[in-house]
Amino acid sequence: MSVLDVIRKRKSVRKYKSDPIPEDVLSRVLEAARLAPSAKNLQPWKFIIVRDKKIKRQLVKACLNQRFIAEAPIVIVACGFPDECYAKQGRYMKSWPIDVAIAMEHLILQAAEEGLGTCWIGAFEEPKVKEILDVPKNVRVVALTPLGYPAHEPKHRGRKKLEEIISYDKY
Ligand SMILES: Cc1cc2nc3c(=O)[nH]c(=O)nc-3n(C[C@H](O)[C@H](O)[C@H](O)COP(=O)(O)O)c2cc1C
Repeated sequence: MSVLDVIRKRKSVRKYKSDPIPEDVLSRVLEAARLAPSAKNLQPWKFIIVRDKKIKRQLVKACLNQRFIAEAPIVIVACGFPDECYAKQGRYMKSWPIDVAIAMEHLILQAAEEGLGTCWIGAFEEPKVKEILDVPKNVRVVALTPLGYPAHEPKHRGRKKLEEIISYDKY
């Protein structure tokens, strides 16, 4: 598949089969995250691969009871390091949320290429997620995603038209 084909194929999956993910497939998905670009190549991230059923159930509670998360055989929790990133992006912001988001999207697109489903989870209570997973104080949780084989074919969500989001030469 071309990159654009994979981008078109990816949709948020909210129903999963419990089928296990072969190790070689998982390692390619994780490799895609590892290869992501980051500001100054600082790679301020860590990805927690959660397989334990009890921990997955706890994560559901920390994610506003989005139960489908625990259906998947794996939940990936993307963490960022505010103390180890480029601190003055655009002269005003730290790069870690962007760095982690890019790596997570790499992972998500490779998952789509492999026929796996994901769903970016942004609705979560960070203190609870950190407590469940023993995440250190100076590390932040950016996002989670279930990772597993889809149990349904999600519908396409619409997008804005290109002319609404593009301008040329000036804003
Ligand atoms: C930052 C962010 C946070 C999101 N949080 C959630 C979430 O907590 N739960 C959920 O089911 N979907 C979540 N989504 C998925 C979006 O709802 C979804 O990407 C959007 O509706 C477009 O649909 P698609 O991914 O199928 O193209 C999130 C997506 C992003 C980018």
